[in-house]
Amino acid sequence: MKRIAVLTSGGDAPGMNAAIRAVVRGALYHKIQVYGIERGYEGLINGEIKEMNVSSVSDILQRGGTMLKTARSKRFMTPEGFQRAMDMLENFEIEGLVVIGGDGSFRGGLELTKAGITVMGLPGTIDNDLAYTDFTIGFDTAVNTVLSAIGNIRDTSSAHERSTVIEVMGRHCGDIALYAGLTGGAESILIPEEPVDINAICRKLIQGRNRGKLHNIIIRAEGVEISSQELAQVITDRTGMETKVVVLGYIQRGGSPTAGDRILASRMGYKAIELLMEDSTSKAIGVCGSEIISYDLETALNMTGKHNKSLMELADMLSI
Ligand code: F6P
Repeated sequence: MKRIAVLTSGGDAPGMNAAIRAVVRGALYHKIQVYGIERGYEGLINGEIKEMNVSSVSDILQRGGTMLKTARSKRFMTPEGFQRAMDMLENFEIEGLVVIGGDGSFRGGLELTKAGITVMGLPGTIDNDLAYTDFTIGFDTAVNTVLSAIGNIRDTSSAHERSTVIEVMGRHCGDIALYAGLTGGAESILIPEEPVDINAICRKLIQGRNRGKLHNIIIRAEGVEISSQELAQVITDRTGMETKVVVLGYIQRGGSPTAGDRILASRMGYKAIELLMEDSTSKAIGVCGSEIISYDLETALNMTGKHNKSLMELADMLSI
């Protein structure tokens, strides 16, 4: 393979830049020409494509966001938009495309695969919602950001003897809530993968208060049915505790990637280059234990059932 391109698509995630760097430098090391496509599939349609050199990716390893910008392209889903994207790839004689993004971005890559383009998917999303991989690039940083917020909120919550519902991102996946809740010692964690038992939550808060615990942290993943405001109201009504809501929002998507995310991004980015050099078919790259793995792109997208029930049980046991 002589000429490839890389793009980032969907919600940005810390470590995307580290992944771009690994793809660009890995390709150049092996004398493969590499292009950067700006604004994801939208930029591909518009021909926002530029050749990258070693210096193009200098000083980005430690930065959040994505130097290539990102977008959620609606036009790419139309037959005309898709055809324009295909024409651009043909005009630039791009033989392989590295897509850094989440589920939706991979689905776009699958359409390109069906049209004859080789696509390597790198899981770049804070949500950790791709079942084929243990972890996605950006998840570890997001969890650490939430953890730091929990620490700050706990200080003020404790000073005022309040409870606080902290709403975190994750779309339909509860992993950010689960990992941050477990490591931040949250009293309760609500995730979309498990039914919400409000009686049990309130019972636990009352038991804690009877033991002298005067503040609580409740982590609610955004995909949970009951809203944060409703939840806070029910807790206030049933326990008499003043309960505040904090929505962390985009804070979770920014910031310098952790060492863990930089390593993951560097290893996965280079794996994409290795696979492209082997003339592999389209793959989704992931991590299983300490090993970098790859699955057929479509197979990976069809995988389900990643929810870590035992971690939830552990969090529940340790927060009595
Ligand atoms: O997929 C990443 C994510 O941050 C989700 O956690 C969240 O639901 C969504 O993106 C927010 O999307 P937008 O950037 O369009 O507001």
